[in-house]
Amino acid sequence: QFELSLRPQRLAQYIGQHKVKDNLRIFIDAAKMREESLDHVLLYGPPGLGKTTLAYVIANEMNVGVRMTSGPAIERPGDLAAILSALEPGDVLFIDEIHRLPRAIEEVLYSAMEDFCLDIVVGKGPEARTVRLDLPPFTLVGATTRAGALSAPLRDRFGVLLRLEYYDDESLAEIVSRSATLFDVTIDAEAAGELARRSRGTPRIANRLLKRVRDYAQVLSDGAITHALANQALELLQVDPLGLDHIDHKLMQCLIERFNGGPAGVDTLAASIGEESMTIEDVYEPYLMQIGFLQRTPRGRMATHLAYDHFGYEQP
Ligand code: ADE
Repeated sequence: QFELSLRPQRLAQYIGQHKVKDNLRIFIDAAKMREESLDHVLLYGPPGLGKTTLAYVIANEMNVGVRMTSGPAIERPGDLAAILSALEPGDVLFIDEIHRLPRAIEEVLYSAMEDFCLDIVVGKGPEARTVRLDLPPFTLVGATTRAGALSAPLRDRFGVLLRLEYYDDESLAEIVSRSATLFDVTIDAEAAGELARRSRGTPRIANRLLKRVRDYAQVLSDGAITHALANQALELLQVDPLGLDHIDHKLMQCLIERFNGGPAGVDTLAASIGEESMTIEDVYEPYLMQIGFLQRTPRGRMATHLAYDHFGYEQP
């Protein structure tokens, strides 16, 4: 898969997230020295920061296979049993959006994580009995945008908790340059820096912008991405100098114009601009808060002075 080829395969190729990498390096090396499977890992943080990539990297570094699934995809205990019993010793099982696992499945997962066994109920009514299934040792890598949405018992069964942070511009520029090399397209340092600044701290966005700017370069120019061309393309793409897009604008403008800067509840805001509350909370708000445009207060969301300035409004 094309997307997959952009992903670094090894920890040493993984750019940024130094704290996460330094910790993982030690836990991986220690597990390998003891010839054990790696303890279960919970990765949390905003979308697009490389949680799935890290799951692959962990499997590669441990020299084991990886099986990918997601919380909503596992509907019945039998689904989980089928996945777990197909694992080879030491394999990584990646569960994306693990906070969306049905509660009944979570409970089955506890004993699988803790004792590498499964208690499954076969039959119904008075005939029902439980059968214990032994599993190979495995590493569960769970990913979530909201660690707080995980039940405490599930969270407590992860031995390694790692929080991914937004990337700094330097790391993002490095990622853009690396991806450009993989795409076989030339990009100058200023252009890479421009894409980095407009990517909201997020490699997934940086790579998406790179692909679109590459399209412009190919059609409107000789294929090389210069700073001038990048600026022109980003303007056409309606990505502003801070990387805020159409929906960020709509959200902040709605808060400022219709709710006088707030406080406004997230559900009210979401309904006003026609987005899901959860998308706003998980995808848009974290970055707007990070750059100091939005505040969460007990009474609702509020726009800050910085936001009024950026969007060209008079201070209230
Ligand atoms: N591509 C996307 N994220 C990356 C990262 N953190 N390091 C290297 N390449 C990437």
